[in-house]
Amino acid sequence: MHSFGLLSLASFLFAFCVASQVTWKATPFNPSSIPLAVRSPYLSTWLPQGGGNPLNGVWPQHWTGQTVGWAGFIKVDGTAYSFLGDPGIGAPFTKATQKSMEFTSTQSIFIMSCGPIDLNVTFLSPVEPSDLSKQSFPFSYMALSATSTDGNSHSVQVYSDISAEWVVGDNSLAVNWTTVEGDTLVHQVQLQTQTVFAEKDDRALYGSVFYSTTAGSGVTFQTGEDLVVRAQFVNNSVLLNTKDSNFRAIANDWPVFAFAHDLGKIAATPSIPVVVSVGNVHDPAISYIVAGGKLQDRSSLFWNQFSTISDAITSFMGEYLDALARNSKFDAQVQSDAMTISADYAAIVALSIRQTLGATDITISKSNDGSWNATDILVFMKEISSDGNVNTVDVIFPAYPLLLYVNPLLAKYLLAGLFEYQATGQYPNKYSAHDLGASYPKALGHNDGKDEQMPVEESGNMLIMALSYAQKSGDNSQLTTYAGLLDQWTQFLIQDSLIPESQISTDDFAGALANQTNLAIKGIIGIKAMALIAEILGDDKKSSNYSSTAASYVSQWQYLATSSDQSHLTLSYGNSSSWGLSYNLYADKLLKLNLFPDTIYQMQTNWYRTVQQPFGVPLDTRHTYTKSDWQIWTAAIMSDTNARDFFITSVKNAAANGLSSQPLGDWYEARDGTPEAFRARPVVGGHLALLALSSQPASSANGSAPTASAITPNGNAARGFTLPLPFSWLGTVLRRYQSH
Ligand SMILES: *[C@@H]1O[C@H](CO)[C@@H](O)[C@H](O)[C@H]1NC(C)=O
Ligand SMILES: *[C@@H]1O[C@H](CO)[C@@H](O)[C@H](O)[C@H]1NC(C)=O
Ligand SMILES: *[C@@H]1O[C@H](CO)[C@@H](O)[C@H](O)[C@H]1NC(C)=O
Ligand SMILES: *[C@@H]1O[C@H](CO)[C@@H](O)[C@H](O)[C@H]1NC(C)=O
Ligand SMILES: *[C@@H]1O[C@H](CO)[C@@H](O)[C@H](O)[C@H]1NC(C)=O
Ligand SMILES: *[C@@H]1O[C@H](CO)[C@@H](O)[C@H](O)[C@H]1NC(C)=O
Ligand SMILES: *[C@@H]1O[C@H](CO)[C@@H](O)[C@H](O)[C@H]1NC(C)=O
Ligand SMILES: *[C@@H]1O[C@H](CO)[C@@H](O)[C@H](O)[C@H]1NC(C)=O
Repeated sequence: MHSFGLLSLASFLFAFCVASQVTWKATPFNPSSIPLAVRSPYLSTWLPQGGGNPLNGVWPQHWTGQTVGWAGFIKVDGTAYSFLGDPGIGAPFTKATQKSMEFTSTQSIFIMSCGPIDLNVTFLSPVEPSDLSKQSFPFSYMALSATSTDGNSHSVQVYSDISAEWVVGDNSLAVNWTTVEGDTLVHQVQLQTQTVFAEKDDRALYGSVFYSTTAGSGVTFQTGEDLVVRAQFVNNSVLLNTKDSNFRAIANDWPVFAFAHDLGKIAATPSIPVVVSVGNVHDPAISYIVAGGKLQDRSSLFWNQFSTISDAITSFMGEYLDALARNSKFDAQVQSDAMTISADYAAIVALSIRQTLGATDITISKSNDGSWNATDILVFMKEISSDGNVNTVDVIFPAYPLLLYVNPLLAKYLLAGLFEYQATGQYPNKYSAHDLGASYPKALGHNDGKDEQMPVEESGNMLIMALSYAQKSGDNSQLTTYAGLLDQWTQFLIQDSLIPESQISTDDFAGALANQTNLAIKGIIGIKAMALIAEILGDDKKSSNYSSTAASYVSQWQYLATSSDQSHLTLSYGNSSSWGLSYNLYADKLLKLNLFPDTIYQMQTNWYRTVQQPFGVPLDTRHTYTKSDWQIWTAAIMSDTNARDFFITSVKNAAANGLSSQPLGDWYEARDGTPEAFRARPVVGGHLALLALSSQPASSANGSAPTASAITPNGNAARGFTLPLPFSWLGTVLRRYQSH
């Protein structure tokens, strides 16, 4: 079942050939889909790759795979080139040639060669660790800068537009729009029939999309039919400043919302970037259940700084260069921290950051008098692609390393809603809830107790995450406030974690099983976490009681969970032929518990070598697929760097193999790297597991003032690891193949 067949060799070679079709320089590699504008569950626009598509080879897509029209043209001495999207119009133009694509944690940068001009197209989706208000603003930048490459100067004009496909995925729906002409030019587009808090095919049925640029001489705009507006620019290098007021369906003569900029004469010095922004605003953003079943409307945090959206957009446009500088600094910090592990690791981390934060909304509520309640911040996360649940505990859990690394307050405010809701007493089960609501953006709770049941999984997760936040931040307030709930979940774990009943874990697609070794690890760590929490809260008696229980469970568990030949941990007790990724041991390291003996880590490190496949180690013996997040968690607890780097390189190879066109998938086939259905999920925040282990507690986080809590990514990179031996991807694959 796990031997290498001819088929998997063929798949490798196929993957290699597909990937090699990329004709541009891709740094650090060409991923399955390139993030263009990724800031929130609804602002999530990507460039699908598969074997490789230049920026002007295909249309961008929403994470759902729906086309999102974003077109760009450049005129060079009167000759038109397309540089973005795949528009066809009734006027002559040629396609620019893509020279390079580079992604960082916050940016995707394309160099498009247009005759004697190189156009630098930089997509910046800001990550704002030290300013949650900025982080909550669901807008992205596209910046265009031209350079002459032939020693002469050239006349250059640039154009871009968005279609109404940015609003929703159903192109039969009617939209309307306005263009506001102030210091900032703003196109606003929305559905004519709005349904608050409703989604269709994962797209919001309410709110507005904004496409904006700074007004000035040489800046023109136009709205109207795609063919007409684009041909106007291609023919004339300028737009007409006219507004189409014939509101209609998205696909009815495809209305587009365009800007053009005259850059004048361009020489060898890169021109000052022309900047446009695109945003997708929903207000209120979240419906949230509070005490007594009442529903509270919650708005994006940035609203407490701006009274109108146009003020917010003008501020965002005005600070592009500052945002670029801040984000480039953040990128450099992430890169230098992750490079202490390896280049492959740095590449995966960079690709994971926008995707994870792009699944969140940071929100605030209003007091009765209508003013913002500055102390009431909650973060919500959409379980993108798998089921759209709100704040799924076992999705926040894998993403947690990223939250701890970027800003632990994000972690606190993600847990806060789950704690608050369960503290109201409306959730009836004695273990932790699975999520805050079945369908984003409705955080309506589960007062019937019929959420997806993952009792040990979620109870353990909540205890581990609560303690971990406190350790990283020095802020014990959540432990104090919710000591009762934490203790209740611990009582449940004492009952059900040494001998876990048949139940599902976070890997629910793999099915239910009794006596899961990995689930027991989580439950036992949860009990030990409560021992530390009790100690923090000054209850030494309880602390030592829970510590003894956890220690006693570990010794019993070792006996139950080890295969009869002592070579590995089983998947479930008593089945020596079974095994799996025991990634929950990561929490033992994250919390610095030293609860499980080193011999366990050593045994697992040795074992994984014997069961590895070309693209990693399968999740467990029931299937041959694996998960990228859990492999990186496993990498983080390996006893030697070769084992660690095998996991990292496997995940990178799967992400780079050209077999998928979807935003980074966390679930794939370990034998040949083919993707499973999951895509764009925030669980890839788990790829920062090695960074979260080594970063120091960010002691300045106390939650009382989000904009003041400048917790920048921690500079202390992983220590104690040596750099991996360099090896090439194909060489590794073939060596491994030959060794069998
Ligand atoms: C492209 O432009 C961005 C900012 O607009 C800049 O940071 C980057 O260095 C430029 N890249 C190249 C290759 O010119
Ligand atoms: C567009 O539709 C929305 C929702 O029905 C409505 O509130 C708004 O006034 C309309 N705008 C225009 C310009 O017609
Ligand atoms: C653009 O020029 C083409 C001929 O090249 C012409 O057919 C078309 O009508 C023009 N469109 C506009 C909007 O100027
Ligand atoms: C602000 O929010 C906090 C936390 O939910 C709550 O305790 C407090 O009562 C709220 N204040 C007002 C004035 O509504
Ligand atoms: C779980 O393991 C315990 C201890 O080995 C055993 O007594 C029990 O029968 C197992 N449960 C199942 C459902 O296999
Ligand atoms: C912990 O306390 C409970 C209740 O007082 C007691 O029954 C149990 O034996 C104690 N466990 C340990 C390991 O001390
Ligand atoms: C033991 O595990 C293997 C692999 O998961 C499975 O095929 C087999 O059915 C299991 N045996 C029992 C008795 O559960
Ligand atoms: C906690 O936040 C307050 C308000 O911003 C700040 O004055 C204080 O210094 C912070 N405490 C710590 C330990 O950072």
